[in-house]
Amino acid sequence: MTKRIIITLVVLAVPLLSVLLLTYEVINIEFNSFMEDQISVRNQEGPVIPFVEEAIPFDGVAYVPGGRPPQNPYPGDPASIARGKEYYAINCALCHGEPGAAASTVGPVGTYFDPPPPLLTTELLRQRDDATLFLRMTEGFGRMPRMVENLTENERWDVVNYLRSLAQQ
Ligand code: HEC
Repeated sequence: MTKRIIITLVVLAVPLLSVLLLTYEVINIEFNSFMEDQISVRNQEGPVIPFVEEAIPFDGVAYVPGGRPPQNPYPGDPASIARGKEYYAINCALCHGEPGAAASTVGPVGTYFDPPPPLLTTELLRQRDDATLFLRMTEGFGRMPRMVENLTENERWDVVNYLRSLAQQ
């Protein structure tokens, strides 16, 4: 009986020990177990990976790189401005904080950025035309992710109209 137990233990121990040898320094097969050593873009690392060439987002082509600047389909529409305000609060304020005249501190996520995201002050907004604001959201900008999965094309124009309304005050 004891003999059997000993034989069973030996039979079990041999493969276990062989595997242990492989995982340790004795037979050193290199394999990477660090999650951060990979090709994906890291936190705060720019530039954002560009679109695959000729890929078309499922809500249609908003802008063809190298084509004419995208046109605002409904500039100044009050309903659009109201929607844009809501979309901004959900998708942008976490990083950029309040926009326009109220711009003073970045949002809670923005504080993790070094340097922090720019405040979308009235002055900055005046210096950017609608197409530029739209493209920042569509393509991403430096360390800012593109927002095409959060906001459809029309929703991005709503945000542009909202920001534009603040720049005009
Ligand atoms: C995850 C944080 C984050 C979110 C969310 C975010 N941004 Fe940004 N944004 C940034 C950072 C960081 C920069 C600066 C990029 C750089 O300089 O590398 C930036 C830059 C910009 C700029 C460029 C300013 C300039 O100088 O031209 C605009 C405009 C902008 N964001 C608008 C928006 C809008 C509108 C939204 C919401 C739809 C938004 N951002 C959402 C982080 C964010």
